[in-house]
Amino acid sequence: MFKSDFPLIVDHPEILYLDNAATTQKPSMVIDGVSEFLKNEYANIHRWHYDLSEKSEIHYEHSKELVAELLNCSNKEVIYTANATASFNLLAQTLVNSNIVKKWDTVLLWVRDHHANILPWMSLSKLFWFKVEFFWLNENYDIDFDDFKEKYTNDVKIVSCWWISNVTWWICDVKKLKTLLRDDTFYVVDASQAAPNILIDFQEVGCDALVFTAHKMMAYTGVGGLILKRDYVKELKPLALWWWTINDVSVDDYVLRKWRWKYEAGTPNIIWAVSLEYALEYIKSLWKGDIRKGMGIIEKHEQELAEYWIQRFKELKDKVRLIGPEKNRIPLFSFIIHGHENINQVGEYFADKWICIRCGWHCAYPLHKNFQIGGTCRMSTYIYNEKEDLDRFFDVLNELINS
Ligand SMILES: Cc1ncc(COP(=O)(O)O)c(C=O)c1O
Repeated sequence: MFKSDFPLIVDHPEILYLDNAATTQKPSMVIDGVSEFLKNEYANIHRWHYDLSEKSEIHYEHSKELVAELLNCSNKEVIYTANATASFNLLAQTLVNSNIVKKWDTVLLWVRDHHANILPWMSLSKLFWFKVEFFWLNENYDIDFDDFKEKYTNDVKIVSCWWISNVTWWICDVKKLKTLLRDDTFYVVDASQAAPNILIDFQEVGCDALVFTAHKMMAYTGVGGLILKRDYVKELKPLALWWWTINDVSVDDYVLRKWRWKYEAGTPNIIWAVSLEYALEYIKSLWKGDIRKGMGIIEKHEQELAEYWIQRFKELKDKVRLIGPEKNRIPLFSFIIHGHENINQVGEYFADKWICIRCGWHCAYPLHKNFQIGGTCRMSTYIYNEKEDLDRFFDVLNELINS
């Protein structure tokens, strides 16, 4: 239904792109929109006195308004970074610099977490002497709440956790987790795989910070988001500074701005922000200009595909091990084929048939170690994938199993 909006998919029917958890393809609306912007409206933003710069700034700000509409937050809470990894690094450094986490405190993470949400905390913990602990998952791939309660001691000042795993595809009940937290715990949610696939409500989740990465939702690579609750936007002190982050500098000291600009040091990634603007306009166009309903269309499409996949995988249950639950998931599957444990060879087999899947540890070493497996093959769909694509994938999978 949506295929015709994506030039790469239309122009290369021989390719079956099933690596959408890594990054998505871009619709014409994004490619053409950015191209028009560059041809007619591009200039640096802030500090402008001329029309071109004002136009550029309007685009930049409009993209944030669309993010706010989609995620149900204020545009004053939207901070742009380079990607989800950069958002986590910015957030971790800012929280340390603002004394939200101090010596002997603990940051509590889920063992399923992506390295983007592990390494920034770990590297700072070595410098600033706080601890990083992990809570575990149960046999249903959900949070082991008993383990969580045990680890959630008074020392814990930050809890950071995935919404949707990029390995197990479990949709975590992030609202339930919030109900278990003390008011003084800073709660971070990684929505990198959630934002492209399900409807998010920042206010309803009640987290203090939410992270996403725009190239997984049809925008260009190079722009990510950090949504920070308004009170924190004012209160916290980022580490990286430049002109636009401060109100004043003298030879003795500087005065930080109170609002979101203080987090965006340096010339921002204006072009990529415009690509996000057009990606969000595309989502809006799916339902008569209502971005949240447009995302609902994507979610419905994804859920229908997930159900179909599960049925097809069940037919192979003696031959293929799925790493992840049957329910409460999106159409992204990590699997191991019995008798074909060399995942690189599996990836190459599919590549020879023009099918793009990803094989490896998916930046989640602790999770794979927990399962005692040396990597998985992962295929993931998006709105331009249809049931016939899945049939093509299963034809090749069956061929490989029987080879
Ligand atoms: C759940 C999750 N978090 C974070 C990231 C990191 O995103 P980026 O590489 O855009 O920084 C990814 C990327 O795969 C992810 O799947």
